[in-house]
Amino acid sequence: MIISSPTDFRLAAKRKLPPFLFHYIDGGAYKEDTLANNCDHLSTIALKQRVLKDMSKLSLSTELFGEKLAMPIALGPVGLSGMYARRGEVQAARAADDKGIPYTLSTVSVCPIEEVTKAISRPMWFQLYVLKDRGFMQNVLDRAKQAGVSTLVFTVDMPVPGARYRDMHSGMSGDYASIRRIFQSVRHPHWAWDVGINGKPHDLGNISAYRGTPTHLEDYIGWLGANFDPSISWKDLEWIREAWDGPMVIKGILDVEDAKQAVSFGADGIVVSNHGGRQLDGVMATARALPKIADAVKGDIKILVDSGIRNGLDVVRMLSLGADCTLLGRSYAYALAANGYQGVQQLLDLYRKEIEVTMTLTGVNDINNFDKSALVLD
Ligand code: FNR
Ligand code: LAC
Repeated sequence: MIISSPTDFRLAAKRKLPPFLFHYIDGGAYKEDTLANNCDHLSTIALKQRVLKDMSKLSLSTELFGEKLAMPIALGPVGLSGMYARRGEVQAARAADDKGIPYTLSTVSVCPIEEVTKAISRPMWFQLYVLKDRGFMQNVLDRAKQAGVSTLVFTVDMPVPGARYRDMHSGMSGDYASIRRIFQSVRHPHWAWDVGINGKPHDLGNISAYRGTPTHLEDYIGWLGANFDPSISWKDLEWIREAWDGPMVIKGILDVEDAKQAVSFGADGIVVSNHGGRQLDGVMATARALPKIADAVKGDIKILVDSGIRNGLDVVRMLSLGADCTLLGRSYAYALAANGYQGVQQLLDLYRKEIEVTMTLTGVNDINNFDKSALVLD
């Protein structure tokens, strides 16, 4: 399949993956309204076209938490990436590393922390969930430190997993799920050979390493429900702040009051996020929430944003709305599924190209100078 734009990877991933995995990536909560609104609202953000400003030199690099980023993009945490491509977390991290941007490993990754940090030269970011087993959290924080993880991304918008009805239809969960997954795998022999057979072990690498026994992925969604902790509150973050001396970013902020609380708490950054519409359907698109949050806390804390970003133009829109950096989710998960390391590299090249063209046609030659003055606000 010919890939000419960042969004082409979605169809390529759909062809490659057994449906239960494609729909797990692609789907969202309930009716998927927020999932759609994230992209739709972002598409309505209009940039000013400016001309004749000598755009022969462009600068895309930025700095975040003391690290240099080749462009204001990081790969966000995407669970089970090792099921989309063989040892997928390593492949995605290597692509990010080669393109000079950070990679965030999910708590619920297939590859454990050490397998990924060994494969890259940049310091990795690590995303943490609150699991009921606090011994696990202490253990994983120690291991992250030991492995040279630079930044902790603490996800707070998943005290319970959102209801994703697509997963029940697709065989990710629900009745006869495991037999349906076997049938689907047989019909996707390339995936079955590359990932199903040669990509083992298939378990949650970070959790198995702690428990000393494999974590079975048979009932992954059930596992999330049973192990995630709905009692999480700002109090839990205090001991994590104590246990982690590097930069700490709180992911899953959508409300101005919560953003202010993150500042008072002493976090280094927030990710304005609705988890890509995978948690509570009906909440606001992030591009809509972002300007108010930026008005309240910009400069006091670093503002990252995700949910609905599908191309380089979307990155510039988010920066103009007040973000310091963007995170990709599905956009790179599709590229990883479609063509592994090379797919993610190609995706990031396409993002860079689009950002360069956008900068040239909006008359902004330093990426750090995008703000609301680049937007048409009527
Ligand atoms: C996610 N996301 C996520 N977030 C997190 O903090 N930890 C995780 O393990 C995961 N896992 C995960 C799996 C899959 C398949 C997807 C699609 C997403 C959420 C992710 O980091 C990010 O917030 C959203 O993906 C952003 O929305 P878009 O850009 O994908 O629309
Ligand atoms: C998800 C979890 C793992 O969105 O964050 O599926």
